[in-house]
Amino acid sequence: MFTCHFPVLVEPIVEALIEPFLQLPLSAESHWLVDCTLGGGGHCSSFLKEFLTKEALQKHRVLAVDQDYDAVQRAKARFHLEITQGRLEVVHGRFGELREVVSRRPVLGLMADLGFSSDQLQNSERGLSFRIDGPLDMRLDPSQGQSCFELLQQISESELEMILREWGEERFSRRISSAIIERRCQGVLPATTQELVDVVVKATPPQARHGRIHVATRTFQALRMAVNDELGQLDALLNQVIPSVKEGGRVAILSFHSLEDRKVKRFFQSKKWFYSLTKKPLQASEEETRSNPRARSAKLRLGERFRLDKQQEKFLKC
Ligand SMILES: C[S@@+](CC[C@H](N)C(=O)[O-])C[C@H]1O[C@@H](n2cnc3c(N)ncnc32)[C@H](O)[C@@H]1O
Repeated sequence: MFTCHFPVLVEPIVEALIEPFLQLPLSAESHWLVDCTLGGGGHCSSFLKEFLTKEALQKHRVLAVDQDYDAVQRAKARFHLEITQGRLEVVHGRFGELREVVSRRPVLGLMADLGFSSDQLQNSERGLSFRIDGPLDMRLDPSQGQSCFELLQQISESELEMILREWGEERFSRRISSAIIERRCQGVLPATTQELVDVVVKATPPQARHGRIHVATRTFQALRMAVNDELGQLDALLNQVIPSVKEGGRVAILSFHSLEDRKVKRFFQSKKWFYSLTKKPLQASEEETRSNPRARSAKLRLGERFRLDKQQEKFLKC
C-alpha cells in the first residue's frame, strides 16, 4: 500500500483547477498544474487522470512537491509510469524554496492542502500523534531544522505560552508551559510523545481532562506548527509562489486552522491582481465528513489570477 491518506474535497478542487486548461486554445504550449503538498498523492492522481482522459488536456503536466522525503519516494514508486512518460515531475522541497521551480514554467493551476498527512501521523518515528508513542520530533521534513524536543530545550516560558495560546488556542497554556519548563529545570524534559501527553494531562485541571477532544490535541497542534514554521511557510507560498501563476490561472488552498484560513482569505482579498472565487470557504459535505473525519475542519478557498487588459494594467501601475 502506498498511502493511508484520504484526500479531502477532491471534486471541487479538480473542477476549479482544470477549468483554465480547458479554456486554452488547442495550439497552446503545454502548461503545468502544481500540487505543492503531494502527501499520499490523492489530489495529484486525480489531476493526472483528468489530463489523461480528456484529449484536449493530454499535453499538460503536473509538478508535485513535498517537504517529506518519504512521501516523495513513495510517489516516485507509485507514479513511476507517469514520471517516465513526462506527465509528472516530483520534487522534494518546501514552499519557501519553490519560487524558482515554479517561475520557470507556465503554471495555470496551483494547490496546497496544508498540514500533515495520515501517513505522517501514523508513523511513530515522526512523533506527531498523541495516541502513538514515539520520539518527540514532529518535523514533517526530518532532514531539516529542530525537533520538538530540541525546541523545548531552548524556548523561553513566555514564548512557549504564546505558541500554545495563539496557535493551539489552548485555555491552559500558562499551566502547561510552566509544567514543561519546570520539567526542563529538573532535567526531565519530555522526550517522547507519551511523556508530553503525561505532562499536559497533569497540568490540566481534572474537570477539563475529559472533553470532546483529547486533552493534548491543542498542545500537539501548536508545537507542530512551531517546529515546522507552518505560518511562515504559508506566507512564503502566498507571497513568493502564487505571484508566478499565469494570468487566468487558479489557486486552491485547503486549510485546517483558523489562522491559516484567515491568512489565505486576506491574501485573496487584498491583491489587485487576484480575486476570490469563494466568498465563504467551501466545506466538506456531511457524507464526506462521515467517511473521512479529517474533512470536518477543512476550509477550501479558490482564487483566480486576473486577466488584465492593457487599459487596466496601465491603471493599476499609476
Ligand atoms: C494534508 S497532506 C497532503 C495530502 C495530499 N493532498 C493527498 O491527497 O494525499 C500535506 C502534505 O504537505 C506537506 N507539506 C506541508 N507543509 C509543506 C511545506 N511548507 N512545503 C512542502 N510540503 C509541505 C506535508 O509534508 C504533507 O505530506
